Amino acid sequence: MIYANEYQQVRPARKKDIRAIQLLTKTAVDSDELVKRTRTVIEKNLGDYFIFEIDKNPVACVALHVYPEQKKGELACLYVNPLHENRGIGRKLIQYIENKAREMNLTELITLSTQAFTYFQSKGGFMEGTPDDLPPARREKYEQSGRNSKVLVKKLK
Ligand SMILES: CC(C)(COP(=O)(O)OP(=O)(O)OC[C@H]1O[C@@H](n2cnc3c(N)ncnc32)[C@H](O)[C@@H]1OP(=O)(O)O)[C@@H](O)C(=O)NCCC(=O)NCCS
Repeated sequence: MIYANEYQQVRPARKKDIRAIQLLTKTAVDSDELVKRTRTVIEKNLGDYFIFEIDKNPVACVALHVYPEQKKGELACLYVNPLHENRGIGRKLIQYIENKAREMNLTELITLSTQAFTYFQSKGGFMEGTPDDLPPARREKYEQSGRNSKVLVKKLK
């Protein structure tokens, strides 16, 4: 799959993208599709975030949080600006994260979703999982969150 051409590409997020990530995902946060992330939280894990840009404008984002002990990665914060939806950008970002996870030798990709469950199954090749699939630290956060997210899993090996 091609991630870049002369006018669009996936690239690591930079410090100046933090505001863009917050603005981009605001609608999804307000409607409870995504968890609210503070500037500090994003900044602390900035290396986990990637931006999809068209003509230098961020139009989508995604993150990969790694749990090295369990060799698992969590795909998080996937959001595509509605003006650019249904053009395969979401799928490209999932594929990008999956490739990164494979390069890092992770054995499993997990994701949590309240409203895009069917999307991850039908377009991302994820299977329904359970909270037991989450690394212990992530499971604790999940239980404290009170969000009724569903767990999805994609085996990489
Ligand atoms: C879900 C989302 C990432 C899809 O991005 P996208 O770039 O529009 O998706 P793609 O172009 O790769 O795929 C489009 C296909 O997925 C389907 N689709 C889109 N959202 C869907 C959903 N929530 N549930 C099921 N199918 C969905 C479309 O109908 C389309 O189907 P088709 O190809 O058979 O016509 C995007 O709509 C979004 O950001 N949603 C809000 C945030 C969210 O819920 N994020 C996931 C939590 S981590």
